[in-house]
Order: sequence, then C-alpha cells, then structure tokens
Amino acid sequence: MSERLSITIKKPDDWHLHLRDGEMLKGVLPYSSLDYARAIIMPNLVKPLKRLPDIIAYQERVLAALPVGHRFTPLMTAYLSDDTVASEIVEGYQHGILKAVKLYPAHATTNSAHGVSSISAVLPVLESMQKHGIALLIHGEVTDSSVDVFEREARFLDTVLLPLMKLLPELKIVLEHVTTTEAADLIMDGPANLAATVTPQHIFLNRNALFQGGLRPHNYCLPILKKEQHRARLMQAVTSGCQRFFLGTDSAPHEKHRKESACGCAGAFNAPVALSVYAQVFEQANALDKLEAFTSINGPKFYQVPVNDESITLLKKNYVVPNSIAIAGIGEVIPFLAGETLSWSIKRE
Ligand code: DOR
Ligand code: ZN
Repeated sequence: MSERLSITIKKPDDWHLHLRDGEMLKGVLPYSSLDYARAIIMPNLVKPLKRLPDIIAYQERVLAALPVGHRFTPLMTAYLSDDTVASEIVEGYQHGILKAVKLYPAHATTNSAHGVSSISAVLPVLESMQKHGIALLIHGEVTDSSVDVFEREARFLDTVLLPLMKLLPELKIVLEHVTTTEAADLIMDGPANLAATVTPQHIFLNRNALFQGGLRPHNYCLPILKKEQHRARLMQAVTSGCQRFFLGTDSAPHEKHRKESACGCAGAFNAPVALSVYAQVFEQANALDKLEAFTSINGPKFYQVPVNDESITLLKKNYVVPNSIAIAGIGEVIPFLAGETLSWSIKRE
C-alpha cells in the first residue's frame, strides 16, 4: 500500500474527558475544543457532580471558558453514588442536561471516594437507566487492595460487569479506557449495547514505559499501563473496525508538582497529542482507513447523535510535543509524550 501523506476525517468527538475547573479548566479546554466538536465531560471534580444544579452550573463554566470561535459541546455526566436518586437522573436526561452517568467504584481513582460501594446499592438507578436508555459509563477496576493492580480490570469484568450484564441485559454500557485482552475480547464478542473507549496511552505504550530509564510519573494513569500482549491485542481489536470501540482520550491534567511527587497523581494530559497518537497507531496497523470510524462515527452511533458536519485533516508531518505547557494561574502541566516526536500533525489553516 502506498504511504498516505494526509487524511481527512469528520471532526472527532472525545467520549471521555476530564476538564477540571477554574484556572485549569480555562487552560486545558482549548486543547480539546479546537479539534473536537463534542466531549463527554467527567464528573470527578473535587466535589463530585452528583446533583443537577451543580452539573448545570459546571456546564455553564465550561461554556464560559471556551475561546472565541471554538464551537464545542460539553456533554455532561452525573457522578453515581449510593445516594443517587433515580428520578433525578431520568429528569436530567429527559431535559437534555445529562448525556450519561459515570460509575466509579469507591476509591478506584482520582476523586472517587464518593463512588459506588456495590452494584446492589445502585440497582434501582440502573434499572431506571435501562428503562430510559441512559448510558452507564464504567471505570472498570475492582478496588480490593489484595488484588494486583495489573489484574484489577480483568477481575472487574468477571466479578462485576458480567453479573451486571446478566442482571440488566439491555442497559447501555461503556466500559471506559479498556486496557486488557480480556476487555478487548469481551467487547468484540459482546452485544450492541456494550461499547468501550480507548485512550492513546493504552494502545501506544506498554507498562515498560513506566520504568524507561527511571520512574516515569507522566505515564502513570489508571487503569495502569499493561503488558505488551495486552497493548497489542487492544490495538488489533480497535483497528479491526469493530464499531463498539471509540475515541475517549481520558485526558486528565494534573499540575506538574502533583505528578512529580512522592505520591504522584494518576492521569495523563493527552489532549494536545491524542489525535496524532491515534493516527500513528492506526498507520502502524495498516488501518488508516478505519481511523475515522473510531474517532468520529462509532461514538455518535452508540450515543445516537449525528456525526459532525465539519472535517479535520491530519498530515504526515512530524509533531514535536512541547516539553511543558504553561497554564495561567496554575503553573506547568506536562503533556503526555512531552518532548517526543510523533509522525502525524493536525493541519491548521
Ligand atoms: O488516571 C486517571 N486519572 N484515571 C482516572 O480514572 C481518573 C483520572 C483523573 O481524574 O485524574
Ligand atoms: Zn477518566
């Protein structure tokens, strides 16, 4: 096959994004709002977004932080907790305030202390979501500290997700940021109402990247990077054209000093590089023809929203990732793959 020098795709959406709040929101939002038309916004603020008035107020802050000329729709989510009331979720969905509901097992990751203690604790809410076609977005890791950190996703599938799918077979579920062969297999063989987002880091790097010549805090995220065999299977599944995988960056900025710390935060700020990384991975798999479905078609299909009208063009042209990004009022944030050279860049007019 002759080498592609450019590829034009429908404008992508990011189906999993952390924008934070305040100065950080203002600083990081443009990296998403420039190249994506819509994003599913994660609700794990320091005070989790559980109630509709808080979600509406946050959406207004996101819209107010948009740079002039950027057209970007933040699709909001509610943070599921043991005290979530089903009627409030249904009301939020029916009024177009909420697009989905996020389930964090309690203590699974950043700002998840208020997460769900067990599926039975939220069953009435989930039943109601199934009835109304509201998607449940899942951080799929068990939190039992006796389970090896590299096994937590696979264990979650067996002990939580599969029983949940049996209990509520029609519930729309997105397994977020999948990382393992087990998850890839489950999605490939699964029903139409089960889909997954895939991050750039989990199809580009394996766990060696955590320890390359020393400890690499900027490659630390949750779920943690896995062995090469998992990365390779994930890349193969995603580039196979299966419609139930779509783009979700999980871009999760933290201040530099919170990552480069004795107890560093989990999360990779990948919004500036994600599309270049995905293009490079699809090219490696000889599957550039399937990139657009992953970035721009499969997600809208699952969420039953129209595909975007606008397009963007990626060029086969080196992109040197900045070493650091200054965020006004915050300080430095180190982007994912800082200082590295990627082989695809986004065409700017
Ligand atoms: O690495 C992660 N960072 N994983 C998550 O699930 C949350 C995210 C964050 O909010 O920082
Ligand atoms: Zn996330």
